[in-house]
Amino acid sequence: MTGDDPREEPREFEDEASETAADAVAADDEGATPLRADGGAAGADDVALDPWGSSTVSDYRKLFDEFGIEEFDDVLDEVPHPHYLMRRGVIFGQRDYRSVVRALQNDEPAAVLSGFMPTGDPHIGHKLVFDEIIWHQQQGAEAHALIADLEANAARGLSWEEIDEHARSYLLSLLALGFDPKEGDLYRQSENREVQDLAFDLGAEANFSEFQAIYGFDGETDVSHMQSVVTQMADILYPQLDEPKPTVIPVGPDQDPHVRLARDLAERMRFFKVSKAYASFELEADERELVAEFSERLDPADFDDEQLRCVHVADTLEQTPLADLGVGASTLESVLTKLNEGGMEPLRPRTRFSDRRATEDAFDALIDAVEGEKRVYENHVDAFEIDRAEAEELAREIEVENGGYGFQPPSSIYHRFMTGLTGGKMSSSIPASHISLLDDPEDGYDKVKSATTGGRETAEEQREKGGKADECPVYELYAYLLAGDDDEFAKRVYDECVGGERLCGDCKEQAAQLMKEFLEEHQEKRAEVEELLEEADIELESPRRR
Ligand code: TRP
Ligand code: SF4
Repeated sequence: MTGDDPREEPREFEDEASETAADAVAADDEGATPLRADGGAAGADDVALDPWGSSTVSDYRKLFDEFGIEEFDDVLDEVPHPHYLMRRGVIFGQRDYRSVVRALQNDEPAAVLSGFMPTGDPHIGHKLVFDEIIWHQQQGAEAHALIADLEANAARGLSWEEIDEHARSYLLSLLALGFDPKEGDLYRQSENREVQDLAFDLGAEANFSEFQAIYGFDGETDVSHMQSVVTQMADILYPQLDEPKPTVIPVGPDQDPHVRLARDLAERMRFFKVSKAYASFELEADERELVAEFSERLDPADFDDEQLRCVHVADTLEQTPLADLGVGASTLESVLTKLNEGGMEPLRPRTRFSDRRATEDAFDALIDAVEGEKRVYENHVDAFEIDRAEAEELAREIEVENGGYGFQPPSSIYHRFMTGLTGGKMSSSIPASHISLLDDPEDGYDKVKSATTGGRETAEEQREKGGKADECPVYELYAYLLAGDDDEFAKRVYDECVGGERLCGDCKEQAAQLMKEFLEEHQEKRAEVEELLEEADIELESPRRR
């Protein structure tokens, strides 16, 4: 069990290169991506992922190319009974959602969590997130919804009276739409001690430069605003406090910077890092690929005592033209140095557990738990008979048994922003642009009736060329809300519109009527769930008043 060469590299985190929200602003307006033919319409303006700014997205493709969000379509086929927002492409993106889908499929533990800043009345944009939480709860996930009161206070300067009033209203709509508070969990940030403690812990792995890079914070930024960020990180990881589990965070793409940071922090909190290695020393990813390729290519039988050694690979690399290696000269030089220093050390593939944050007891426990041939070094253990997946599982198990969190990186799904009824952005500060869930049903009717459409100048032109459903906020209302689960209806509206059979007057009349009915029904349900909310385990009045 002695090491060949227990040389150690300094502790190092392999963070995903993260693009900052701050440099992701103001993309151009070309190429708005329309929804699928049976779905909504394209959004407005620019790409700007700023959690506290005004976020609009004109080109959803940019979110894939520049931010690394993945297409929801990649996993859609695997989702059991997908929600209509998924089927219609309203939920367009995801990170690592497959892990949640697998858990749901196999009846394994999974969680959903999202949070609401109580800055105003809940509106039809929030309904998307309410629906996503509720759907996951119905699919068997443990469901959490939180009121981001600390954030509203710190980042938006709302008073506690305002916060309490709005919080109550969000919760009533969430319950009215079907959230089961007996099965699920509701909390407000300010009252959740576990979240506060976790936030403090997570703060140890984040620093100001990083906040600067991600959020554009500067020397003038309030410390409480920064605290609200670590609080959100804790919210996102909170479902995993009792045990690590796949967790999905349904949000708008403006929250993606938070999701990326939470995924990074989850990783940094881990006790051990599992990787593949070939000898006692550390290799960078591209170096490792090169060594892997050559160690496979060479036959140990061709060498003395049938043993492939570091020098053998070094020699072979040296004889190969650089152009055939597919790496730069500096990578080659670095890998050669390492291999030559390794000298006669045998080159053998192995699974490595590197100690990142483990306690001494945890590291010892890991050493004991590794089965088969192993080598122990000061800061890592190499296992020769365990594959990567087994190793990941073991590392998490030992971490959790020894007081660590064992977090899995949280997953996310992203929905499109709705276009405002008056065109442009849907904004809470322009009442005519959005429909509040508290709007008088008659006002809701009127707002839809006066909405902008994707219609043509004249009825003749519309009959001839068809309407532009992809650019129509009214069509969006059908796709995102009014058609509900009825895909056929949504598709019929679309087809009739683009086929010129549907004219905007009648179309809006129908939508306005449906909106009115929806609001009436929703508000009745809100009244009905009052009692359920009183019984729910959440503080409705904050003791804070300053
Ligand atoms: N920052 C979110 C917003 O502005 C609210 C929020 C707080 C949240 N904690 C969260 C969202 C955790 C998702 C997950 O609306
Ligand atoms: Fe929009 Fe007019 Fe088409 Fe209806 S008929 S979806 S209002 S463009």
